[in-house]
Amino acid sequence: MATRILTGIKPTGIPHIGNYFGAIRPSLDLQAQGEAFYFIADYHSMTSLFDPRQRLEFTRGVALDWLACGLDPKRTVLFRQSDVPEVTELTWLLGTLAPMGLLERAHAYKDALAKDRAPSFGLFAYPVLMAADILLYDSNIVPVGRDQKQHVEITRDLAIKFNLTYGETFVVPEPKIRDESAVVPGLDGQKMSKSYGNTIELFGDEKTLRKKIMGLVMDSRTPAEPKPDADKNLAIQLLKLFAPAGIALDFEHRLRDGGLGYGDLKKALFEHYWSYFATARALRAELTANPDYVETVLQDGALRARATASAVLKRARKACGLE
Ligand code: TYM
Repeated sequence: MATRILTGIKPTGIPHIGNYFGAIRPSLDLQAQGEAFYFIADYHSMTSLFDPRQRLEFTRGVALDWLACGLDPKRTVLFRQSDVPEVTELTWLLGTLAPMGLLERAHAYKDALAKDRAPSFGLFAYPVLMAADILLYDSNIVPVGRDQKQHVEITRDLAIKFNLTYGETFVVPEPKIRDESAVVPGLDGQKMSKSYGNTIELFGDEKTLRKKIMGLVMDSRTPAEPKPDADKNLAIQLLKLFAPAGIALDFEHRLRDGGLGYGDLKKALFEHYWSYFATARALRAELTANPDYVETVLQDGALRARATASAVLKRARKACGLE
């Protein structure tokens, strides 16, 4: 059987370059190596976003971004999570086997507790819904950034436990994390995240993005001063994502040796970032002008996703004596 590759993005904001290098690019590179199922996790967005209009808008935006970056909808199944409601039933089946202690150790839940927000049942169950996403499609490989590793491990635990309890039912998946982009830093040097407000969006207005990048805070050393820690510089780290390796290394050497000003470095970073996404930006503009096409792709994706999902759910229902 062909390798199944699956991943999802939560529509809680506008996708950023952390999402791109951590998940979108690696997933698109895997499209040709098996059967790929990529989706927009709108049920998951409900644990933190409570504006229905925004949910619809961000969901559409994520679909446009997937397509603009090169998702081939003839080959890859692109769908909205909520168009396959089978996933909620599987969440229940898995939830009955999910130890409270395992879920209490999940980062998102622990973070919410630490921030003193009263976490909802949905937030607590978030990893179980994610396990259902993955197991419902017999997924073998799940390309994600490092922050999702724990969730894929919980998924593996639940699959193994279900198989032990009710007999061999689910494929046990593997996370696939690219070392060089496992954690893309944001404008403030922390992990780039929609919830930290430190993002560089994939697509957006040129002036705003130039301002964000030129606003990167550097230290107060003069341009002439050698900087032995040049490889730790945030602009250099980001440049390595966009620029050909030789060019990024050349900037790193110039910074280390002294003579390169931070302003010039940030200008170069912006230019490389902007041209990196030029083709995708043009395609996105075309697709935006054609909303019917995007909706057709999602509806066709839902049909294809549902065909697989309903067969796997039936297998799981039979295994545990529901039919
Ligand atoms: P989400 O929407 O937060 O992020 C989508 C993907 O982007 C990766 N990512 C990063 N990678 C590197 N550096 C960063 N700074 C960075 N920020 C985000 C994430 O690791 C992720 O791969 N729970 C998931 C969505 C989801 C899912 C799934 C993923 C739901 N069901 C099933 C895989 C399989 C989430 O919130 O991702």
